[in-house]
Amino acid sequence: MRLIILASGRGSNLQSIIESVANGKLAATIVAVISDNPKAYALEHARRANIPAVFLNSQESARGKFNEILADTIETYHPDYIVLAGYMRILTPAFVERFPMRILNIHPSLLPSFQGLHAQRQAWKYGVKVSGCTVHFVDSGLDSGPIIAQRAVEAKDDDDEDALAERILEQEHLLYSEVLQLLAEGRVSVNGRKVSIK
Ligand code: GRF
Repeated sequence: MRLIILASGRGSNLQSIIESVANGKLAATIVAVISDNPKAYALEHARRANIPAVFLNSQESARGKFNEILADTIETYHPDYIVLAGYMRILTPAFVERFPMRILNIHPSLLPSFQGLHAQRQAWKYGVKVSGCTVHFVDSGLDSGPIIAQRAVEAKDDDDEDALAERILEQEHLLYSEVLQLLAEGRVSVNGRKVSIK
């Protein structure tokens, strides 16, 4: 299974996927890491693992054109799946339509609660007792595609926002590789919004 990973920031989810491949828990090859941010530490993680690390400048073209360049670049690597790991730009519908059910995202809440930015802060401010993370296919909405897997995390009374975010992140690192391995084994099927695991 060939994976392209898109990341804009620190890349801790990327690093956990790199480690899962290295220790044999995930039967996949990361064929490239692409970032819209030249300073993303994700690019450094990729270089250290000898994975092609590509910066694409989103400032040089309009949003539609940038997404076209991104999709064209991705296709040159022939990936099976495109894995969003802290990728901070919204993909255009035209981009999403080019890769139906082949784009994955991880979101730090139990969707559909707390879509959008700073989901951990939203959950913490709301005062939920349980939060978590979600891996889902990407459709043209915001954090709205079919859910593949979720993991719940307790929100403790003495948590601050960072403590909750940290506990969620630990589960993100486990869940993303587990879902990718299910895909590698061909065990994920989609019927409308319903995703089932064999
Ligand atoms: C994670 O919290 C992920 O759920 C969200 O963006 C963050 C990325 O963190 N989509 P990292 O760059 O993988 O460390």
